[in-house]
Amino acid sequence: MDSFISKPKARYRRDCLEYLQENAAKSLFDSEKRLKGKWCELVGGSGHLTLELLLSVKVLSPSGFIGVDSNKVHIATHQARYPEATWLHGNLQDVIHELEGVSVLNVDSYSSTGYRTTRELLKSLEDVARASIQRRGAFGLFLNPTLGGAKRHGLTTRQALLNLTQDVSAILTGWCPESRFTPESFWTPPSLLV
Ligand SMILES: C[S@@+](CC[C@H](N)C(=O)[O-])C[C@H]1O[C@@H](n2cnc3c(N)ncnc32)[C@H](O)[C@@H]1O
Repeated sequence: MDSFISKPKARYRRDCLEYLQENAAKSLFDSEKRLKGKWCELVGGSGHLTLELLLSVKVLSPSGFIGVDSNKVHIATHQARYPEATWLHGNLQDVIHELEGVSVLNVDSYSSTGYRTTRELLKSLEDVARASIQRRGAFGLFLNPTLGGAKRHGLTTRQALLNLTQDVSAILTGWCPESRFTPESFWTPPSLLV
């Protein structure tokens, strides 16, 4: 847990928020710069820091935050500290039906990518994403997988990343055909790959 209570992680949280504020200002934020809809995140032991960031800049109130995690202890700890927010214990795919009104989802899982699970996860998010797109014209989705497991699955890092970007672009194009995503929309410069 400690590696998520760090300056780089704090920067990542701010970058996610700033990205949305810059790129979806009209669809996802009202005239007072408050988030329309709810923010949902895989919280781990440190996701309260995201909630505290969002509260500090008045983007939302605690009732606008849904924290999800498969770890019961993390959820109970957050629940005790911020009872006005919603805390859901379970696998994200099993609590999807409780995410009504979510306009931003941070799948901050650090789980292995490029394999079937990412595809299945994205498919399960379709109703939540489409509802926000229909209602507000946008849905904020952060995917934060790790390439660490590529070798275990017999893939190079490059192949795992390619698989991921192909899956993400195909599924997001299904949600939002006019956006015409391609794998290159999510591609990392080859110089950064091993
Ligand atoms: C990196 S931590 C979250 C960090 C937090 N968002 C922050 O900003 O500090 C990842 C958490 O996601 C949880 N997780 C991963 N996949 C999940 C899933 N499919 N459903 C529920 N929880 C999941 C893990 O239990 C872990 O506690």
